[in-house]
Amino acid sequence: MYTEKVMDHFFNPRNVGEIENASGIGEVGNAKCGDIMRIYLDIKNDIIQDVKFKTFGCGAAVATSSMATELIKGKSIEDALKLTNKAVTEALDGLPPVKIHCSVLAEQAVKAALSDYYTKQGIDPEPIVGKIVADIHEHEHDEEEHQHVSCSGNCGGCSCEH
Ligand code: FES
Repeated sequence: MYTEKVMDHFFNPRNVGEIENASGIGEVGNAKCGDIMRIYLDIKNDIIQDVKFKTFGCGAAVATSSMATELIKGKSIEDALKLTNKAVTEALDGLPPVKIHCSVLAEQAVKAALSDYYTKQGIDPEPIVGKIVADIHEHEHDEEEHQHVSCSGNCGGCSCEH
């Protein structure tokens, strides 16, 4: 079901922890599965010098947050803003369809941390970072109505008809 890379990042997650006096902190969650992801950024001269994460969630949530931190560490803010859940999923050699939403959580956590960074600078983040989806499940439903691919209803917390 899971690729070797997913298993590796689950059993040996990179960049776990917190950053004191972080330049930006982002927290997002999925109210239905109860998973929470928090990302800390240390930014200097528009470069992500360091990044740490804490995830209370499923194995895929841990693996995707680990991979997301690896993909943005040492990169410019501009590059980090381009990080997509698709890139995270591809870097992990794929995820089962029912776990794609976990990678959306990782993308949104990075964006939420960047938003916080801009807010701390007195800059309105929305035109740069876009709208943060704080509750991923709500977002999933929007997409499901069109595609019906991102959720199997396995978590039992979903009220929609499958
Ligand atoms: Fe909730 Fe993976 S993030 S099941």
